Order: sequence, then C-alpha cells, then structure tokens
Amino acid sequence: MTHPNLTIVNHPLVQHKLSLMRDERTPGPEFRRLLREISLLLTYEATRGLPVAMRPVTTPLTEMQAPMLDGPDPVVVSILRAGNGLLDGVLDVIPTAKVGFVGLYRDEETLRPVQYYCKLPTELAGRLVIAVDPMLATGNSSAAAVDLLKSAGATQICLICLLAAPEGLSWMAAAHPDVRIVTAALDSHLNEKGYIVPGLGDAGDRIFGTV
Ligand code: URA
Repeated sequence: MTHPNLTIVNHPLVQHKLSLMRDERTPGPEFRRLLREISLLLTYEATRGLPVAMRPVTTPLTEMQAPMLDGPDPVVVSILRAGNGLLDGVLDVIPTAKVGFVGLYRDEETLRPVQYYCKLPTELAGRLVIAVDPMLATGNSSAAAVDLLKSAGATQICLICLLAAPEGLSWMAAAHPDVRIVTAALDSHLNEKGYIVPGLGDAGDRIFGTV
C-alpha cells in the first residue's frame, strides 16, 4: 500500500541534488547545503495550496490588485534531530513561520516511540503545520509526532521528508491518511536494521558529522 495523499517531487533539480546526497563520498558541509536547498524546493510544493487574497499594491507605474498570502502564518515542526537539517530551508521560503520541536526516542523493550521533548507554538488549528523529518522509514516516529500535533490542535498537517520507504508510507496511510506527505523519492525497502535502501545512510549522522 502507498499513501493516499503522497506527492513525489520529480523535479530535475531535486533529483540531481538528492543523487549527490546519496553518494557516500559527499562531505558533511555539502550534504547539509544540499538538504537545505532540497527542503526549500519541497516546501514550494508543500505550500502550493496556501490561500492568497488580492491586495492593493502601487508599482512604479500604476496601482494594481496583487495576490498576497492570506491567513495565519504556517508552523514548521522539526522532528529531532535530523529534522533540523530541513528546518532552515523551510524558513528560507516562509520566514514568518512559527517553529516547534518534537523529540522522540525508541523504547528498546516496547519498540514504541517515547516523547522526550515537545515545544510547540500555540494555536495550531487552522494553520498549515509542516512537520519535517528527512527519512520516513518505519513511519513509527512520524506517526507518533503527528499524533502529538493533532492532540495539540493541528488540523492541517503536511509531512516533508527527503526519502520515503513503502513501509513508512503504509504505516502513515493506516495511522494518518489525512496527512499530506511530500517527498523527493520513494525508495525500495527497509533493510533488517531499519535503514532505507538504497537510501543515503543515517541522515542525522551525515548532517551532524557523528559517524
Ligand atoms: N533514519 C535514517 O537516518 N536513515 C535511514 O535509512 C532510516 C532511518
């Protein structure tokens, strides 16, 4: 099963940058820069439905009615820690977005995600809430993060990820079919350690140089 609300951004710039990121020889600073750039391009797609209203603008030549964003500022929520690699790219294109953070770890006994940190802007209802996490692997942590966002009042959620695995999409389809998912690629499968194949390795380690 895939996800009913999935967008794969098949743009040449996104695909080229992603291929460079997959290469194991790509050094950390370049990996981070590419992730920020792709994040900006994925945000462009994720925000396509934002409402606009016509406002008066005076150009050097005349007056006109021009479209401007209308409605409450979107919220971007980084799912720690790898989500921070996508955060600045989102803020590059939506500088007025409010920012939240969700931290989850996997309980080794129950294998369930456990929340260790949560700081969210107030008034999530009625805003576009963009959750960012580069790797949609099992889907466990993304689904748990979305649970949290919905409990906090979010009504319109989009998950931006760099790569998705079929397993993660199925999990999200069962748990949150209403959440839009925007990704740069759908990869083949997860390996026995839960890594996306072909993937790009551990995104957090490659962003923060912790290998
Ligand atoms: N998290 C990662 O960083 N990489 C994967 O391949 C899967 C989950």
